[in-house]
Amino acid sequence: MDIQRCSESAIQVRNLTLKYGTRLIQQDLNFDVDAGDIFVIMGGSGCGKSTLLKHMIGLYKPAEGEILYGGQNFFSSSEAEQQKMRRSWGVTYQSGALFSAMTLAENVALPLQQFSNLSVAEIRDIVSYKLALVGLAGYEDYYPARISGGMQKRAGLARAIAMDPDILFFDEPSAGLDPLSAQRLDELILQLRDSTGATVVIVTHELASIFAIGSNGVFLDAETRTQLDTGSPEQMLNHSRHAKVRSFLARGEMSTTHNTLSGREARS
Ligand SMILES: Nc1ncnc2c1ncn2[C@@H]1O[C@H](COP(=O)(O)OP(=O)(O)OP(=O)(O)O)[C@@H](O)[C@H]1O
Ligand SMILES: [Mg+2]
Repeated sequence: MDIQRCSESAIQVRNLTLKYGTRLIQQDLNFDVDAGDIFVIMGGSGCGKSTLLKHMIGLYKPAEGEILYGGQNFFSSSEAEQQKMRRSWGVTYQSGALFSAMTLAENVALPLQQFSNLSVAEIRDIVSYKLALVGLAGYEDYYPARISGGMQKRAGLARAIAMDPDILFFDEPSAGLDPLSAQRLDELILQLRDSTGATVVIVTHELASIFAIGSNGVFLDAETRTQLDTGSPEQMLNHSRHAKVRSFLARGEMSTTHNTLSGREARS
């Protein structure tokens, strides 16, 4: 399927500085996410990847700078406009799992019950459809504890796409999965991007995932507390002027096998 390209970037990050209180986490972040991108936020542990994602979904207000969605400045928009933008996003958090006391169907139905006026029957149909999209047809009445970790992650994706979001934000979606399950999750993310046309912003330090699915990205550095580079993972690997970026990505080139299987060849 063709990915729609807008003349304007889906997301524009401008001169962003992120702090907790007075503690500086990242500064001078500047990058664009194009519509249809699978945009990877990468960097070592603790550099501020989740922090950036949380600012991008409006949980925290940046100390400085702007984030624009379709050209609209999120943090200077009215509460009503911010709500509208939030509803066009689907999110999975790094720690955020499913609600264990609810079935998969109840978990996926949650945003639809909260934010739509759909009938019980309509919601049930949508929930089954979304579960089928992530390969969980027939698992509506299962509780999270009774399915595997990989299936739980996929159910989380089903909940994130419940409202047909324009943008999907995933924080370490394959953390804790074995390599094969992680690879399947990557393939699912590609599939969802293609079938829904959504733009994907994903935090990961899994090098296999970065090369398998990333079309563009930004590399954050904990030491200098700013981005070292932005561009596609391949561009950064081969052309980054920062040795740190090249060696971070080169370890991935050598140690991964599935990047050549699913991503680059499938896309080219
Ligand atoms: N709510 C918070 N209040 C204060 N400091 C925080 C908060 N959340 C994170 N931090 C600190 O900010 C820094 C960046 O954290 P963050 O979770 O964004 O890193 P990360 O790149 O996502 O790391 P990881 O790869 O381990 O998930 C860390 O030093 C962390 O301790
Ligand atoms: Mg994190």
